[in-house]
Amino acid sequence: MQRENWGSRVGFILAAVGSAIGLGNIWRFPYMAYDNGGGAFLIPYFFALVTAGIPILIMEFSMGHKMKGGAPLTMAKLNRKWEWLGWWQILISFIITVYYVVVISWAINYVGFSMTLAWGNETISFFTGDYLGLTGGPFEFGGFQLTILITTISAWVINFIVIYSGVKSGIERANKIFIPVLIVILLIILLRGITLPGAAEGLNMLFQPDFSKIADGKVWVAAYGQIFFSLSIAFAIMITYSSYLPKKSDIVNNAFITGFINCGFSVLAGIAIFSILGFMIHQSGGELPAKLSGVFLAFATIPEAINELPAFQKTIGVLFFISLTFAGLSSFISINEAAIAGITEKLYKPRKKVAAWYTLIAMIISLIFTTGSGLYILDIVDHFINSFGVAMSGLVEVILIGWFFKTKILKDHFQPISDFKVGIWWDIAIKVITPAALGITAIMNFANEFS
Ligand code: PFF
Ligand code: NA
Repeated sequence: MQRENWGSRVGFILAAVGSAIGLGNIWRFPYMAYDNGGGAFLIPYFFALVTAGIPILIMEFSMGHKMKGGAPLTMAKLNRKWEWLGWWQILISFIITVYYVVVISWAINYVGFSMTLAWGNETISFFTGDYLGLTGGPFEFGGFQLTILITTISAWVINFIVIYSGVKSGIERANKIFIPVLIVILLIILLRGITLPGAAEGLNMLFQPDFSKIADGKVWVAAYGQIFFSLSIAFAIMITYSSYLPKKSDIVNNAFITGFINCGFSVLAGIAIFSILGFMIHQSGGELPAKLSGVFLAFATIPEAINELPAFQKTIGVLFFISLTFAGLSSFISINEAAIAGITEKLYKPRKKVAAWYTLIAMIISLIFTTGSGLYILDIVDHFINSFGVAMSGLVEVILIGWFFKTKILKDHFQPISDFKVGIWWDIAIKVITPAALGITAIMNFANEFS
C-alpha cells in the first residue's frame, strides 16, 4: 500500500504544532512557571527544550521518516524486540485521550455559556455543581451530563471524520484551520489582557524571578515533564506524523520550528493569562483568585475574570473557549492518529475500518469521564500520567535508542537532508542528559508518591 504523505511542509509543521499546542500550554504552563520560580523558571524550561525537547524531536522525526511506520512498526524496524515500546506509548496516549476529550467537550459547552455568561457570579459552584453535577453524588445523572455526553460523542465524530478523510485531506486540512485561528485568537486575548488595568501586577507575579528555585530539583523535574508532555514526544505521535513526510524533508529545521513555536505559544499564553489574573486582583482589591491552575483556571477563574471585563465580555469568552477547543481537538486527533496508524499497520486492515472501530471503543470508554465523578477520576489519571507516564515512555525510549541502538544510523539519515547540521550536542542530549534528567524525574516522583 502506498503511504500517504503530507501535502506540504507547512502542512506537516502545522500538524506537529497542532499536536504540541494543547490544553497543557494554556492551563498548565502558566501556573507551572508561576509556581516554580517565575521568570527564573524559563531557565530550566529552555534548558529542557534544548537538551531534551528538540533533540528528541529530531530523533523521533528521523525515526518515523526513515522507517515509514507508526510507533510499533518503527520500533520493530529499529530492533525486532522493541515493538512493545510502540504499543506501550500508544497505550499511554490512549489513557490521555479518553479524558482529554471530555475536557474538550467542556470547552465546547463553555463556548455556548459564554454567549450569555450563563455561569453567573459563582463560577466555581456553577462549574462543579450546576454544570458537572458533582453535588448530586458521583454517578448521578444530573446537571448538564446529557449535554456533556452528547458533546463528547460529537468530539469523537469530528475525530472520526478527520482521520477517515486521511492524512492530507483530513488531518492537514483540519490543522490548517485550527492553528492559524488559534494563534490569531491568542494574540487578540493577549492584547486585551495586557491593556487591562492591573496587567503589570499580574506579569510581575508571573515573571518575578526567584533564582533560589533553580537549586530545587523539583523545578527541573517540572520543566522536563512539561517539555515532554507539551511537545507530545515519547507518545508515539511525532513518530507517526513524521512517517508521512516526503522523502526530502529538513528534519532538523522542522524540529526547531515545532519546538520554538510551541514554547513561544506557552510563554504568550502565560502572559495573556497572568495579565488577566492581575486585572482580577486589581478589581478585587489585592486578593489572589482561588484557582490558578488546571481545570479550575479554565472553567472557573477565567469565567470570573470575564465577568469583570469592562466590555466585550461575551466575545472574549467565546474566543477563549474556542481557542481551548481548537488547541484540544488538534492534540486529541494526533493521539488517535498515532493509535489508528499503529493498529492499521499491525492488522493489515483498511485505515477507515480501524478508525471506525477505534473511535467507537475509545468513545465508550471515555464516557466514564462524563459522569459526575469524571473530575475526580480525571484528576487522578492526569496526576498519574504526568508523574509517571512521561518517565515510563520517555526514559525507556532514550535508553533503548540512545544506548542500545547506533544513533549514528539516525544521524546519517537526517544530516544529509537537513540544512542545519547538528554536532555532538545532539548525541550528548540523547545519550546522557535526557536519560539522566528523566531517571532523576522517575526516582523523585516515586519517592514523592510513596513517602
Ligand atoms: N501536547 C498537548 C498539550 O500540551 O496539551 C497534549 C498531548 C498531546 C500530550 C498528545 C500528549 C500527547 F500524546
Ligand atoms: Na493541539
